[in-house]
Amino acid sequence: MTMNKHKLTKQDIEQAKKNSDFLFFTRIFSSDPDSVKYFVLKKIGKLPCDFPFEIFLDLVKTSNHNIRVLAVKNLGKSKNPSFIELLSHLADRDSNSNVRRESISSIGRIGTKMAIPFLLKFLEDKDSRVVVQAIRGLLPFRNHEEVKAVLQKANPMDNQLVDQAVREMIADKQRVKIKQPIHNSFTNNFSDSLVCGDCLEVLRHIPDNVLHLCFTSPPYYNAKDYSIYRSYKYYLNFLTEVFKEVHRVLQEGRFFVLNTSPVLIPRMSRKHQSRRYLIPFDIHPRLSDIGFDFIDDIIWVKPEPSAKNRNAGFFQHRKPLMYKSNSVCEYVIVYRKHTNKLIDWNLRQYSHETVEKSKVHSEYEKSNAWQIAPSANKLHPAVFPKELTSRVIKFYSFIDDIVLDPFAGSGTVGIVASELGRKFFLIEKEQSYCNHFLNSSSSALFTKYFSQGQFLEELIKYEERVPQILEKYNEELENKKLLKKAKELTQ
Ligand SMILES: C[S@@+](CC[C@H](N)C(=O)[O-])C[C@H]1O[C@@H](n2cnc3c(N)ncnc32)[C@H](O)[C@@H]1O
Repeated sequence: MTMNKHKLTKQDIEQAKKNSDFLFFTRIFSSDPDSVKYFVLKKIGKLPCDFPFEIFLDLVKTSNHNIRVLAVKNLGKSKNPSFIELLSHLADRDSNSNVRRESISSIGRIGTKMAIPFLLKFLEDKDSRVVVQAIRGLLPFRNHEEVKAVLQKANPMDNQLVDQAVREMIADKQRVKIKQPIHNSFTNNFSDSLVCGDCLEVLRHIPDNVLHLCFTSPPYYNAKDYSIYRSYKYYLNFLTEVFKEVHRVLQEGRFFVLNTSPVLIPRMSRKHQSRRYLIPFDIHPRLSDIGFDFIDDIIWVKPEPSAKNRNAGFFQHRKPLMYKSNSVCEYVIVYRKHTNKLIDWNLRQYSHETVEKSKVHSEYEKSNAWQIAPSANKLHPAVFPKELTSRVIKFYSFIDDIVLDPFAGSGTVGIVASELGRKFFLIEKEQSYCNHFLNSSSSALFTKYFSQGQFLEELIKYEERVPQILEKYNEELENKKLLKKAKELTQ
């Protein structure tokens, strides 16, 4: 190739294809440096059916794996079943995992029934991305008996990524453009509400898929006085029930941000040991089972003087095994209600204007370690700092969205949501904390305040839901099951 005269461009490649000047490619692939071969392979684009695809065969033997990947990819464009065996061999033997994946992808691209046995063989591969490529190649033949049976099994390697990819591929084939209405009659009627009651009971009456974000910090097991649970297992079971409801009331693909931390339950006497519980880690598998996808682990780092000093003893004696760190961190774990749709889909539900208005223009923390001082409140022992709440609300909601906090305490989520042009739905069981919110926050001016009973009555008036709500309400009046269960859980 006349490389020293002029630098090869995409136009040269297009020109050669247009003129059926296939010698142009043969020359480059046989004698030019790898960088030129790579450029041509990458830019070669669509190929006519009379293209001499055999010229790629030598390239699949080169030591440069980037060239092998592209050569394999271009072989797939041939639609020629006679390459399937070679591609299958490469998928089996090549030392580079990208070449292996691309080979399977090319077998699929050849798009013939003859590929089925080869693709089925690779469903057993240990590389999940090879398996996904094989499944993708099999999808066009999903009505073929053997393929149907395998796809119904969906995940031959019991790998979450494969499982998700398969479901997404199938959903993609059947995709209809669904819009989820952001606002609905529940949000229109109950935005900026505070309900004084048990969150599990209140949540159970909220319709499905209506709220936009949940940010909450549940009780710290028995570390603070406001809630005492019979056992740690009861506590986890109770949170699981609450979070199932949170999952149900959130709209598809929306975020649930959970602030928890390990807690220390003091020893009963000097003869006993104190006990620590790693709440966020214990609750995580339960959230996955409910259908929340893990998105981010943010660590809220407080200044050291704000932490309880646990190493005064060690500081003196320095004896191994007796070291205890001062706990300056809490976890702020971000989850998303599972969906096959990308986050872009959620963005598309909003008008251009709302997205523009909701953009985060200010300086922001780029790492997952958020250094924020804790807040003190005379009435409540564990309030959210406004800075923490503000970051979560700005990052995970849009203007006018409704933010839920089922363990609202002093109502920081409500206050900050209003300041940021969002709405809130708060639930708090302690009357004194509700009063505190109603008496001290400017948001109280427009807050719809309900006792649990009033909230249920209001819901009954709320037309669309009447049949379901009445059904649930009557059920409860009859057997008081839920109330009893909630009481047992919080004992
Ligand atoms: C960690 S505090 C939340 C503090 C809050 N983030 C704030 O900024 O003030 C947990 C709150 O959950 C409340 N709570 C506990 N169990 C509850 C339940 N079953 N239903 C509603 N609220 C509950 C407690 O009374 C407490 O105020």
